[in-house]
Amino acid sequence: MKKRIVLLPGDGIGKEVINSAKDVLNAIAEEYNHTFSFESHEIGGAAIDLYGTPLPETTVDACKQADAVLLGAVGGPKWDSNPSHLRPERGLLGIRKALDLYANLRPIKGFKNLLHASPLKEEVVSGSDLLIVRELTGGLYFGTPSERRDNGNSVVDTLVYSRQEIERIVDKGFQAAQQRRGHLTSVDKANVLESSKLWREIVEEKKAQYPDVAVEHVLVDAAAMKLITNPTQFDVIVTENLFGDILSDEASVITGSLGMLPSASLNENGVGLYEPVHGSAPDIAGKGVANPVAMILSAALMLRYSFQLNDEANVIEDAVQAVLDAGFHTGDIQVPEGRLVGTAEMTKLIADYIKSQNASKCIASCYF
Ligand SMILES: NC(=O)c1ccc[n+]([C@@H]2O[C@H](COP(=O)([O-])OP(=O)(O)OC[C@H]3O[C@@H](n4cnc5c(N)ncnc54)[C@H](O)[C@@H]3O)[C@@H](O)[C@H]2O)c1
Repeated sequence: MKKRIVLLPGDGIGKEVINSAKDVLNAIAEEYNHTFSFESHEIGGAAIDLYGTPLPETTVDACKQADAVLLGAVGGPKWDSNPSHLRPERGLLGIRKALDLYANLRPIKGFKNLLHASPLKEEVVSGSDLLIVRELTGGLYFGTPSERRDNGNSVVDTLVYSRQEIERIVDKGFQAAQQRRGHLTSVDKANVLESSKLWREIVEEKKAQYPDVAVEHVLVDAAAMKLITNPTQFDVIVTENLFGDILSDEASVITGSLGMLPSASLNENGVGLYEPVHGSAPDIAGKGVANPVAMILSAALMLRYSFQLNDEANVIEDAVQAVLDAGFHTGDIQVPEGRLVGTAEMTKLIADYIKSQNASKCIASCYF
């Protein structure tokens, strides 16, 4: 298979972990006879410095022509005091909008030898395996521009959703549940918000089309509580933009580190942008210590959702599990009697596993 992949390293550790994804994809290409070509473009702070905008047209054009896009992370203190149109995050919101990436998928699974690293009790998080499907291009973040009134003493933010926007994300949630364990939790605030009432009506209408999926409605406040008291009850959660933003960060604690969590953002045509959940981590940028796993697992999601290369995606996920099982870890995760490694070594271990296809042989003979 031949595919064109655009790399958007962005800022901070984004520039480091993007190389990890590339190395691992090259290992997959070698092993499974694919041709992946890579093209790098600027976004975020790096683009502001070079072109005076967080999202240059050349970047948008390249992404539109690519088969898939991998993004590192954007942002950093250097640009924190910029006016809002010159903030790195504008690049991220802009590329999501330009590619019409309306569905954000975040799988959250506890890796078994890292459960102790979660701030939640091991017995609570053990067995957690859920997927949050978040609407990404509507709601409060994209309403008519927020404004301050009364000399700045009152503010207005608008939350707008159309039926069509809700229907397509709800469909994604049902379809994801069909491919998993057949359970969908729709999260809203239908006891207060009009947008949530329409959301709930649409979920109710749609459920007849997916008779193999069991549906429940949960209010967002209750969902926030259940996520940390009993995360194993969830299979697929579908929700709107703001609720999804908050719940997916909350759920991220299950894995013990932000450095482990991948994400996929998809449009109607299956073109996707894949990125770690974490930010640019300015506190550790440039030190070679960032955990590359979230970025590498994002590349696995790209193989699965954009290229339908499910076996190859599984191989990457198995390789990550095998390297963690062997005790290797970056500094963001504490593994008793494990071996601390940096970004480059962690990446090489995962790529080597893929090439060897034999974890015990490679890891035991090469590293202990
Ligand atoms: N999608 C994105 O590009 C994105 C997402 C969130 C934040 N940001 C931006 O990133 C900058 C920093 O934000 P923040 O500090 O709130 O969040 P962050 O995710 O960058 O960092 C939070 C903490 O987690 C650690 N961390 C994150 N990823 C890690 C990894 N892969 N390996 C090891 N440790 C890791 C960091 O060192 C830090 O202590 C800000 O400018 C913010 O706007 C960007």
